[in-house]
Amino acid sequence: MSESPRDHILRLRKEISEHEELYRKKHAPKISDFDFDKLVDQLADLERAHPMFAGPDLGIGDDKSEGFQQADHKAPMLSLDNTYDEAEFRAFGDRLYKTLGGTGLEFVVEPKIDGVAVSLTFEKGKFVRAVTRGNGARGDDVTANVSLIREIPRTLKSAPDFLEVRGEIYMELTEFQRLNQLREAEGEALYANPRNLAAGTLKLLDSAEAQRRRLSIVCYGLGACEPSSAFASLKEFKQQLEQWGFPIRDDIDVQQGVDAAWKAIQQLDILRRDLPFPTDGAVVKVNRLEDQRRAGTTSKFPHWAVAFKFPPDQASTILRKISMQVGRTGAITPVAELDPVLLAGSTVARATLHNADEIARKDIREGDTVRIQKAGEIIPQVLGVVLEKRPADAKPFDFEARLKELDLDAARDGEEAAYKLRAPSREMKIRRLVHFASKQCLDIDGLGDAVAEQLVDSELVNVPVDALGITPPQWRILDGFKEKSVDNMMAGLEQAKQRELWRAIHALGIPNVGMQTAKDLSRHFKSMDKLESAQTGDLLITKVGKKGGVSYESVISGVGIEVSESILSFFSDPNHRDWVKAMRTAGLNLVEAAAAGSVDGVSGKTFVLTGTLPTLGRDEARDLIEKAGGKVSGSVSKNTHYVVAGEEAGSKLTKAQELGVAILDEASLRALLGN
Ligand code: IVH
Repeated sequence: MSESPRDHILRLRKEISEHEELYRKKHAPKISDFDFDKLVDQLADLERAHPMFAGPDLGIGDDKSEGFQQADHKAPMLSLDNTYDEAEFRAFGDRLYKTLGGTGLEFVVEPKIDGVAVSLTFEKGKFVRAVTRGNGARGDDVTANVSLIREIPRTLKSAPDFLEVRGEIYMELTEFQRLNQLREAEGEALYANPRNLAAGTLKLLDSAEAQRRRLSIVCYGLGACEPSSAFASLKEFKQQLEQWGFPIRDDIDVQQGVDAAWKAIQQLDILRRDLPFPTDGAVVKVNRLEDQRRAGTTSKFPHWAVAFKFPPDQASTILRKISMQVGRTGAITPVAELDPVLLAGSTVARATLHNADEIARKDIREGDTVRIQKAGEIIPQVLGVVLEKRPADAKPFDFEARLKELDLDAARDGEEAAYKLRAPSREMKIRRLVHFASKQCLDIDGLGDAVAEQLVDSELVNVPVDALGITPPQWRILDGFKEKSVDNMMAGLEQAKQRELWRAIHALGIPNVGMQTAKDLSRHFKSMDKLESAQTGDLLITKVGKKGGVSYESVISGVGIEVSESILSFFSDPNHRDWVKAMRTAGLNLVEAAAAGSVDGVSGKTFVLTGTLPTLGRDEARDLIEKAGGKVSGSVSKNTHYVVAGEEAGSKLTKAQELGVAILDEASLRALLGN
């Protein structure tokens, strides 16, 4: 029986709200924006045809997250209506001519940046806060993380008394790739696209972590402004933004009429591939502010602006093979090996298939012709199969059978999407050993994939730490090991035993504990003993709110709930405690040595850097402090010992003054460091 219109409407509403939640709050959408917009359009059509079943207005969603203060927008932050083809775009122009009358409409055409909207408030020319769109009327105060973006001017000369500058926070493609390379080196799942990573970064409660990921901004809009007569047109406003030093990053030519605007859209479709940020369309806005006021808005969109969405780049190609990629923690990701094809300016030969369920749901088979797409994401997605081109002998893909063929002994836990290697499997032992010996862990020269395979196959290594106890006669059994190489290996193992504590922590391969977190843990706990016996309270402070809600605060920057749970659960496994024991027996260093250049008055103290120092770059200052045994944190609290303030220091300086934290300039920092 086919679904009734009423049930169909209810189902679509439920689906839409689930996808909204994934996009706005979890920053992990399951479908493309394009598919999402299609669902919304489908719902609108159905509700128009069956108004008696129509539900309440969907609104523009809400990005509110736990742990943030909220702030009101003085002028609402609206969304944009979408158009997908020339006819729809021209209809937008026609409506405007009808309401505004006459001729001579002016437009500005800008790239639609795929990021997160923010509103920056300036009072008497001073930057006071940054707020997300939220529900349009009220959003999350993200000043702490936005303050990390140095291109935003902190003071504006001859500014209106009150000003909201609207813009888009995004992550540059090169920064996105850099972070993903780090993830790959750590064997962790890759971030799907720059937009989600930018949104996730903006909502990090831990500014030290936020500091490690560089965000950027483009400013494009005017919110509330007092006096309201300060600007006559968008062009004028954007010129002023540029003069104040805001990044605007697009030309501010004015297009006369709809034809010219349409040409500019097409031009942008060509140029967008060379832009440093992800774009999924163009935004066309009426230039004169008086015309904007006359055109008005709905509760969701302005009538004076529209988005034109470029279709995502797609291609079809043959999927030759499904291979299995094994991560550091043993998680297995199926990967489509494709006949290379040109897509959005680069050659694509692989695409992620996410997990076994995804392959089954789309019934993807080896030999199939598949459609692939690259929209905001960098890693192409397999959209589906071109069934007409399926070879007669293509068989449904049997995930478990393939694992068996590859000798991957894996299983999945109840709700988990990914198959994971069972701990004692051969592949897992090899992966763990390679990680253990890698540059970012114990840095054992000469112990790579090939040697690790031999060590595991000859049963010399069962758990990674076994490698430290292998004797010269045992090494000699392996292929390619002669007198000299055995000597080198033995020397390498001796060196490995003397390395820093964080390397041993990282070498354990605790899920979610990468190199940086290992360093933070080392600095905090100072010994493996202390880390191993840490309890929840050593990692997280539990807070009970007035209404009985429970929230958590990190004790160590970078270690939130997820990481804490990983650590606790790792050490609760007796096997893992045995590894640590074996590390101790092997003579591995498991304590943090006092920093070599430790300086009294700096060692153990927490510093926060803000503003621009006369000669020291931020990284240099951080290096000097860390070498002297100090720690650099991203946000000021009552635990901060010193705030080092330079030119244009912002809210951190104010906070330090409020809390009575000692404030240093560069000269007094140098004096403290003794240099
Ligand atoms: S104007 C009322 N201009 O797209 C005017 N928005 O789909 C609304 N966006 O919420 C904003 N680039 O986050 C404008 N050049 C641009 C934009 C842009 C990206 C985002 C913005 C907005 C969303 C609407």
